[in-house]
Amino acid sequence: MPSSDHPIGLGVAGLGRAFMLTLPSILADRRFRLVAAAAPREESRAAFAAALGGSVHADVAELCHDPNVDAVYIATPHQMHRDHVIAAASAGKHVLVDKPLAIAMEDGAAMVAAAEAAGIQMIVGPSHSFDGPVAQAHAMIQSGKLGRLRMIQAFNYTDFLYRPRRSEELDTAQGGGVIFSQAVHQIDIVRLLAGGLARNVAAQTGRWDQSRPTEGAYAALIAFADGAFASLLYSGYAHFDSDAWMDWVGELGHAKDPSRYGAARQMLTQAPDAQTEAALKQSRGYGASPVPDPAPHHEHFGPIILSLDRADLRLTPGGLWLYGDTEQRFIPAPRILSPRAGALDALHDAVRLGRRPVQSGAWGLANLEICHAILHAAATGQSVGLAHQIAPAD
Ligand SMILES: NC(=O)c1ccc[n+]([C@@H]2O[C@H](COP(=O)([O-])OP(=O)(O)OC[C@H]3O[C@@H](n4cnc5c(N)ncnc54)[C@H](O)[C@@H]3O)[C@@H](O)[C@H]2O)c1
Repeated sequence: MPSSDHPIGLGVAGLGRAFMLTLPSILADRRFRLVAAAAPREESRAAFAAALGGSVHADVAELCHDPNVDAVYIATPHQMHRDHVIAAASAGKHVLVDKPLAIAMEDGAAMVAAAEAAGIQMIVGPSHSFDGPVAQAHAMIQSGKLGRLRMIQAFNYTDFLYRPRRSEELDTAQGGGVIFSQAVHQIDIVRLLAGGLARNVAAQTGRWDQSRPTEGAYAALIAFADGAFASLLYSGYAHFDSDAWMDWVGELGHAKDPSRYGAARQMLTQAPDAQTEAALKQSRGYGASPVPDPAPHHEHFGPIILSLDRADLRLTPGGLWLYGDTEQRFIPAPRILSPRAGALDALHDAVRLGRRPVQSGAWGLANLEICHAILHAAATGQSVGLAHQIAPAD
């Protein structure tokens, strides 16, 4: 293990959109140094080597055996997470794997088992349960000052379905649609706030656009073991934008220009077929477009309102609105180094201090179980019981 004042050597598998979104936070954080990358495209490997230095590999297993790599950030498509996590675990490297943990529960379980057998730490993220205002709300619930958490309302109206996609991202059987990529964020947030132990799920899903033949919307009701319940609602159909109710701060913490209404559908007109659309998505990856500026605000996942015995809390990109019995007040969220500092803190503490993260592999498996439960509940009209839920680690 390297000395604790030495930056953690981070290797990256996959230089696409997810890496682009996390890169500004990694670059802002002196506890980490990007030392290696694996990507199939020569163009992105060359861009990484030129701009960031370190070694580049065509193969993830090779990256995992790079002696300068202490931990691997796996930012490859969902269907590859299993193989890439197992490659990292086999090489004894800690893992930050982007959400969702996997597509199939069996794959997720195999990843958890591989991490445990290898004695490495696995964190599922970055994900929105790491957001500053979520952590702030979690701390307030834990303090007990406002009584028990009773109810959560989480909703989000976005243009998710009309951003450029690879073909598998529009096929539910291959992990496409809003359940595996978006519900997983809301589930992650509400499980953290409500104590993790979801008991059952009722849900409906919407597939309303034949040209994007996967789930673009859902409503789900999750009941927790202690009696709390959460209502989750999402539309990715690019009409209303709920960032209007988040001070026009977008999901990634940047100010949003409301006059760009319809931009996602407009961009898609440049991509009349699946191949052109995949190429358009690729053009937003590393080496093909500029790295985004660091975001000035916290990230968020749409409006969230929590009801406790003695107050409601509303999460905003800047902090919490508290609506008590006789007063309402705004409590700013602590400033952080970067919007994804929470996930990087967890990775740092896991690698340097051996601290088990809340958002562990087993936690990600519990989130994934609820994704499947939403699909199953919607298909059968029955409420679905859950068997893989865990409470957050202390
Ligand atoms: N946390 C977030 O905010 C966030 C945002 C977007 C995507 N994601 C997640 O990140 C993952 C990737 O999604 P994306 O939108 O970045 O997709 P993407 O297609 O933009 O990026 C995936 C990258 O992986 C590369 N790749 C493919 N096969 C590879 C291999 N064998 N070895 C190494 N690299 C390989 C591709 O070339 C591509 O650059 C998904 O699981 C998604 O859910 C997370």
